[in-house]
Amino acid sequence: MLRHRPPLRTAHVRAVDVHLARGGRPVLRGLDLVASPGDRIAVVGENGRGKSTLLAVLAGTLAPDRGEVHRAGGLGVADQTIPAGGGRTVGDLVDLELAGARAALRALDTAAAALAGGDPGDSYADALATAEALDAWDADRRVDVALAALGAVDDRARPLPTLSVGQRHRVRLACLLGARHDVLLLDEPTNHLDAAGLDHLTAALRAHPGVVVVVSHDRVLLADVATTVLDLDPSIDGRPRTYGGGWAGHLAGRDAERARWEARYAEQVEHRRRLADDLSAAQNRLRDNWRPPKGTGRHVRATRAPALVRAVHRRQDDLDARLVDVPPPPRRFTMPHLPARPGATLLRAEGVGVAGRLRRTDVALSSGDRLVVTGPNGAGKS
Ligand SMILES: Nc1ncnc2c1ncn2[C@@H]1O[C@H](COP(=O)(O)OP(=O)(O)OP(=O)(O)O)[C@@H](O)[C@H]1O
Ligand SMILES: [Mg+2]
Repeated sequence: MLRHRPPLRTAHVRAVDVHLARGGRPVLRGLDLVASPGDRIAVVGENGRGKSTLLAVLAGTLAPDRGEVHRAGGLGVADQTIPAGGGRTVGDLVDLELAGARAALRALDTAAAALAGGDPGDSYADALATAEALDAWDADRRVDVALAALGAVDDRARPLPTLSVGQRHRVRLACLLGARHDVLLLDEPTNHLDAAGLDHLTAALRAHPGVVVVVSHDRVLLADVATTVLDLDPSIDGRPRTYGGGWAGHLAGRDAERARWEARYAEQVEHRRRLADDLSAAQNRLRDNWRPPKGTGRHVRATRAPALVRAVHRRQDDLDARLVDVPPPPRRFTMPHLPARPGATLLRAEGVGVAGRLRRTDVALSSGDRLVVTGPNGAGKS
């Protein structure tokens, strides 16, 4: 059981107007973020939008080109890379993440000895508060619980290089969940988890008393845990968007924002088209005026011509000033309309198998069917 714990008052993350280019291209532009205890920020965006870059900036391993990042509290990071570990073992990884808890217990012992020796200072009370905030006595047990729940290797003597990438990810994640860091920065933590592991992660993040910033493409996880969503996908002004109200708030806010963007773009394009029409009409009149229909007096042509020239110039200036400053919104994907053919079987496979890859399988799909293919690794889905 995960108990609900009181918030750690130190947990805090703040980013102000962060800009960062990578490989010569702007990745983060004017990013603002504030997170306090109990905030679980989901970072979303298509591949390459800068989600991992943002976590590195928040972790302090990557300096922004401009802007500021402030962070308070102990930090736990699970990034997309996982160290092979040299000669290190599972136990070393546990020790690394529990270093704060272990240090707190040592400091408490030292302070207790000083107190017993007659030192009346504040150090004992301070050491006790720190150890209590981390529930340091229980840290190893929490890691063991998390290792078991995530299906991770729990043999602390096991050398890390003998573990698969997925196994190493699970061990590290279990250590982070057990360590009770104030601030957790997690990059795609669900990648190597099965359904039970996912349930444990979800519950652990929901119970986390500090700040969580999680990058994930897993909509179910985000819907379950996110209090706020930071969206790095393109926006009307190029700045990232933050939506409160959890995942549902993000979906509603993003749709509204997108509709406003499309409307403003369409309005500007239309306005420019009207100005261009006006200009070409004025240019036509000017041209016609030099070769007026027979009977038009020479005097009239001479007096009207300068006014027309001025009108053309004015319209040209209007057009030049009226650039479309809203970028075109990204295209929306819409499903092509497929004709419904009730009752018709559109695909049938009977007793198909592939030696060593797929057991004999039957499939029949009718108009309107949607088939989900699931199965354990190696079952033959591909
Ligand atoms: N070390 C690097 N040097 C130069 N450019 C980099 C570096 N790392 C990332 N980039 C570029 O920065 C941009 C953002 O990359 P980042 O890895 O942060 O994206 P992401 O949103 O995490 O993507 P994904 O969903 O694939 O994990 C990309 O255009 C990427 O090519
Ligand atoms: Mg990434």
